[in-house]
Amino acid sequence: MTIHQKAVLAGAGAMSRKWLEAIKTIGGVDIVGIVDINPANAEKRAEEQGIAPEIGTDLKAMLSRLTPDIVLDVAIPAARHEIVSTALSAGAHVLSEKPMAETMEQARDLVARARAAGRLHVVVQNRRYLAQLRRIRRLVASGAIGELTAIHCDFFLDPHFGGFREQMAHVLLLDMAIHTFDAARFVADDAAASVYAEEWNPAGSWYREGSSALASFRFAGGAVFTYRGSWCAPGLRTSWESAWRIVGTTGSVVWDGADDIRAERSVPGGGQLLPAIEPVAIPALDPADRIGGHLGVITDFIAATRGGPLPETVGHENIKSLAMVLGAIDSVGQGGRVEIVI
Ligand SMILES: NC(=O)c1ccc[n+]([C@@H]2O[C@H](COP(=O)([O-])OP(=O)(O)OC[C@H]3O[C@@H](n4cnc5c(N)ncnc54)[C@H](O)[C@@H]3O)[C@@H](O)[C@H]2O)c1
Repeated sequence: MTIHQKAVLAGAGAMSRKWLEAIKTIGGVDIVGIVDINPANAEKRAEEQGIAPEIGTDLKAMLSRLTPDIVLDVAIPAARHEIVSTALSAGAHVLSEKPMAETMEQARDLVARARAAGRLHVVVQNRRYLAQLRRIRRLVASGAIGELTAIHCDFFLDPHFGGFREQMAHVLLLDMAIHTFDAARFVADDAAASVYAEEWNPAGSWYREGSSALASFRFAGGAVFTYRGSWCAPGLRTSWESAWRIVGTTGSVVWDGADDIRAERSVPGGGQLLPAIEPVAIPALDPADRIGGHLGVITDFIAATRGGPLPETVGHENIKSLAMVLGAIDSVGQGGRVEIVI
């Protein structure tokens, strides 16, 4: 590996380990600086990874000194717009964690800045890089269950993170549901047109607010997508990917969010109360399918900085998933169904 790109990482918390390990696996990228408002986090992460970058607290100053090709933003959501816009202004390609922004105005601004700067702005929406999701999308797209009419997802877990999540507003919708919303948009191959949502914080919650939510979307093509979720639901946990039921005009798919995908369809010409059904084979992964979670997204981003294809989670695409989340939050505030505007 002879390519030597320089990268600065912003935010050296829990998730930064996975990013730095991915960068090491890909090769050809030197981490020349780490910025964190808590420099001890940066020092700890650098030491653990066996690297010796410059450590600092001032991103702008570090970027003008080190002129990196790439900025890797793994800081908290509240710092995102400032970090990504500073990095784009400094002429770097930027990969940021989700969510890509806290408001649509910020997200649109980052898309416009990336375009004006002629730089890549890509978001880590890692859960669409799951093999099972790729296979489900192939099945739906093949027409094996007819026309898609509905996607239903249930998400029930009880994590005790500590840190920023227990204080942030709309924590489930903004920090977690975006993965399932993005995955549903991917499976439907459509954009959401409207949403009705409710949010609550159940008795006994260890979150300040918004640990539970439901949302009902309409996709532009007419399919319904419903989400019921909680980060404050002890017992009988679902997978982190949600438990799925996908309904088409002639069949259905269920996915437990882990390895179990099953599909069935009705046998034509039945006539009984409940027509006969038959199993539907789940397509194999295609070699062209992008997989690998964080490593997959980071690999595609680095390849794009070297002239490869535009990653599917580029800002001007990922804003459609953020719009679902922020539309749901608007609906909570307004108490009714809202249109989703990109
Ligand atoms: N894609 C996923 O599956 C996934 C999973 C977990 C977390 N995340 C995302 O990763 C991001 C970080 O999460 P985490 O779990 O590592 O959080 P964390 O709290 O462990 O770490 C955040 C780090 O950012 C630093 N920081 C805060 N403000 C900063 C600023 N202005 N400049 C530089 N550094 C700053 C903090 O000091 C801390 O070290 C969040 O956006 C989160 O949503 C994504």
